[in-house]
Amino acid sequence: MKWIKLDVDLSKEEFVELIMVDRKKICLVKHQNKLYALANNCPHAGGILSGGWCKNGNIVCPLHRYAYNLETGKGLPGQNDYVDVYPIEEREDGFYVGLQEGFWKRLFS
Ligand code: FES
Repeated sequence: MKWIKLDVDLSKEEFVELIMVDRKKICLVKHQNKLYALANNCPHAGGILSGGWCKNGNIVCPLHRYAYNLETGKGLPGQNDYVDVYPIEEREDGFYVGLQEGFWKRLFS
């Protein structure tokens, strides 16, 4: 796992926004005073989750309104899909997001 410090303004009470972390598009969400990091593309048909909104602990995709749990990434019952979620860690100097190293990088490091 590679931990990367978030370089974003976290002062807003609630937000859903696109950030780039290590050349990867991440949907960063602050909801009810907690941070979440998810893959930015919806697994249903590629909708942009950072254009969505939060409802009942889920991120809602703006395209067809599929919803994914902010904690687990699991889709609502009946969707049978999920979105990748990334761990967030608070350290003394800020917040970090954990990204899994790619297959080839793990193989050759
Ligand atoms: S693309 Fe996200 S719900 Fe269809």
